[in-house]
Amino acid sequence: MNNFLWGASTSGFQVEGGYNLDGKGLSTTDVRQVKEGIADCKVASDHYHHFKEDILLMKELGLKAYRFSFCWARIMPDGHHVNQKGLDFYDQIIHLCLENHIEPIPTLYHFEMPQALVDEFGGWKNRRCIDAFVEYARICFTKWKGIVNYWVTINEQLIAMAASDLNGNHESDKVLQTKNMYQMSYHASLAEKKAMKLLKEIDPKAKIGVVNAVQNVYPYSSSPEDVLAAMDAEELMMYMLLDMSVKGEYSFRVKNILKKMNCSPVKEDGDDEILHAVQPDFIGINYYSSICVKENKTATVNYQLPPFFRSSMFEVCPNEHLKKTKWMANGIDPLGIRSIIYKIYNRYSLPIIITENGMAYSDVLENNQIHDDYRIDYLKSHIKEVLIAKEEGYPIFGYCPWSFIDVVSSHQGFSKRYGLVYVNRTDEDVMDCKRIKKNSFYWYQKVIESNGEKL
Ligand code: BG6
Repeated sequence: MNNFLWGASTSGFQVEGGYNLDGKGLSTTDVRQVKEGIADCKVASDHYHHFKEDILLMKELGLKAYRFSFCWARIMPDGHHVNQKGLDFYDQIIHLCLENHIEPIPTLYHFEMPQALVDEFGGWKNRRCIDAFVEYARICFTKWKGIVNYWVTINEQLIAMAASDLNGNHESDKVLQTKNMYQMSYHASLAEKKAMKLLKEIDPKAKIGVVNAVQNVYPYSSSPEDVLAAMDAEELMMYMLLDMSVKGEYSFRVKNILKKMNCSPVKEDGDDEILHAVQPDFIGINYYSSICVKENKTATVNYQLPPFFRSSMFEVCPNEHLKKTKWMANGIDPLGIRSIIYKIYNRYSLPIIITENGMAYSDVLENNQIHDDYRIDYLKSHIKEVLIAKEEGYPIFGYCPWSFIDVVSSHQGFSKRYGLVYVNRTDEDVMDCKRIKKNSFYWYQKVIESNGEKL
């Protein structure tokens, strides 16, 4: 367990706020329509004004790594020109982390992008987005050459490309929207590969990885139909993007499925060369729960479902074996994180870091305290499984719970919290955003102190 990166995660748009300060351009997350009564990202956890205090809390917690993301539009408001104050903001975060012996692990793309690029040419639908992303990556890699040791390209490409309110895929025809999604994802893969190659040129010692929402898919029953449905679901929702990131192409099965759906991406000459040019140095796993699927008896695509659940082969269904809670509707499945490590390492043989793992709950503040024992139970049971795999020899080099402090949930505001530190605000009222350490903070502090001995 030497040098194990006990970390914690956040993301730019979910934590920062300061959405229009110091030259920041609008991000897609700033202009999307948020349902009434749900917090938007304008203030978020007000990290923009509290980051020094937050990093001191990280130090107190004993963090060895902080996984966060840059808001692309803070660094490049119009998607083309650099905003020095945006760079300065992240520079302060990075240096403050390093001064406190915390390894900064920035992600370039965590769900949002400059709205200007969506307005200008439709975002990822257009190949011009590839160049814009690579330019943004170049600025970051050059700025923090020799300083940042671990980079992440794209967080959860599957979700990022499916969430049309975050990427500008405002196509009302669901069939076309689905087709767009696969094309956009293909462009994002090209951008990611180019960025990886660029880092190897600019800062060969630095490492760069991809982060995926890995979907451990179980068949609903042992019927061959359900088992095949689960295999296909895993291919489409987990291996498709990892195969692209690591092997530079989709599996034969995925190619066939996309063809059947009429969603094969349009390629250009030279793409294959770009896709095969480089491999990531590590794989980041975001894991919250497994999912369960059964055969899609209708054999037709239900376009009303979220884009990546749209398939004629499988249908997502509840797993009767797992305990569920209001916010953890797929159930709680600690063993799932271990099987996912086995699956990912078997297929790719790359070092692994758990970049997100967490329990959502509507925490209640009582006498200035949060008794989140349910979260401690969740994290403990998952860390246990990770450490078993590590003990067996799997090259896992870090674990980061989601999230370090409470952040705006991707779609459900502030009543759904994951943090080790409470942020005193509600969906409707930003209040003072005071930081209050939860019981899970003190528990995780001991875990880190004992290097995983005391769970
Ligand atoms: C991951 C994302 O998908 O899950 C985070 O990387 C997100 O950004 C987290 O917040 C939890 O999901 P949600 O929807 O509950 O916020």
